[in-house]
Amino acid sequence: MANIYNQLCPVLFGAGALNQLPEQVQALGGTKALCLYDKGVEASGIAKRMLALLDDAKIPYVVYDGVQSDAPSETVDFAGELGRQEGCDIVIGIGGGSTLDSAKAATVLIQNPPPVSRYFAGTGEPFTSTTPLILIPTTSGTGSEVSLMAVVHDKDTQTKASVLRAASLAIVDPELTLTVPPHVTAMTGFDALSHAVEAFTTNRGNPLSDILCKNIIRLVAENLEKAYSDGSNLHYRTELALASNLAGIAFNDAFLHFGHAAAHEFGVVFHMPHGIACALTIPEVITFAAEADPKKGLEIAEALGLDVSPGDCGVQAGYRAASFIRSMMRRLNIPSLKKQGISREAAVGCAEGAYLKNPFITAAISPVDIPLLGELIGRIYDNYQ
Ligand SMILES: NC(=O)c1ccc[n+]([C@@H]2O[C@H](COP(=O)([O-])OP(=O)(O)OC[C@H]3O[C@@H](n4cnc5c(N)ncnc54)[C@H](O)[C@@H]3O)[C@@H](O)[C@H]2O)c1
Ligand SMILES: [Fe+2]
Repeated sequence: MANIYNQLCPVLFGAGALNQLPEQVQALGGTKALCLYDKGVEASGIAKRMLALLDDAKIPYVVYDGVQSDAPSETVDFAGELGRQEGCDIVIGIGGGSTLDSAKAATVLIQNPPPVSRYFAGTGEPFTSTTPLILIPTTSGTGSEVSLMAVVHDKDTQTKASVLRAASLAIVDPELTLTVPPHVTAMTGFDALSHAVEAFTTNRGNPLSDILCKNIIRLVAENLEKAYSDGSNLHYRTELALASNLAGIAFNDAFLHFGHAAAHEFGVVFHMPHGIACALTIPEVITFAAEADPKKGLEIAEALGLDVSPGDCGVQAGYRAASFIRSMMRRLNIPSLKKQGISREAAVGCAEGAYLKNPFITAAISPVDIPLLGELIGRIYDNYQ
């Protein structure tokens, strides 16, 4: 079987890369920038540093600093309208996934009439969006800077909808993640790990995504706990920034499946941060995949650094890998569904919405329907309390 692999946009990667922003804006022909960020990135001093770089290069800009967690559609509409009215011809998003996704979707609105819901993938209108877009992640988790879609929270339908718009350039500067607090380091790190574990266990993987995923799993296993307890260590931060970025490249082609379908529904129903929701699903994604294809169980266990040999039972290796992840989640204080005050019934009740609203679930390595997803969510509830 032949599978395509893409690289959607160039990536400028490395400590200090942010300093090249002005010349990159100019190279893309930008003469007035719409800059998006949120209050956390503002408080960290990162936004001020970026604006100073633009000031020094005499690049005009307008700021939208009202980005909200999970990119609610109304804030995207507002930011897009601001950029259109101000005549911005380039967009810069600097922040976590919520900001990068808000920037992607707002960019579409610079050349296309609002609201953003008109352009949701699957149901929306076709559109053309050529405005240059630079995305600068400040968390190591989503990989949104290199993925095709913006995940937008549509409150009208309680859905995490997608708008398809890639960046023109990603600037990944690990120094920008040094200020990420431990709980955000933990959840975003598990988000990156969930991307790798899911992209490694779809029916759409390719040779590139498989190689990337195994290395991403290794990078997260080796560095996440260290970065959690020593956030100012640039080496650990750099390894996680690389893992997150490579995971965005991997899942863009290989897709995600039931872990993210369930996580999206937990997010809209229980208002749970994306990374926590993703973390909770990882052990069951691993055991599900190992039961479907034991070789996957062996390879994931090996990438996590567990002691396995080629003759070992892959299903058992998958179970060991899952329990290794659960222990890591406990050490990094990922709260269980139960600890979040969610009943088993309410959690399992998410199966239908998760299945119906997230068509990518059909990419799972072995088919998942609503009853099976309910069972898998039940196991997520029971096996990590
Ligand atoms: N488009 C994609 O491919 C994709 C993939 C995965 C997730 N997502 C989406 O990304 C969103 C989650 O993104 P996230 O996990 O990065 O969270 P986030 O963007 O909501 O940020 C979490 C918190 O961290 C703070 N923060 C960010 N960088 C910081 C820094 N350097 N120093 C201090 N504080 C900082 C923010 O201010 C915020 O309070 C969800 O909406 C999810 O659906 C998108
Ligand atoms: Fe994710």
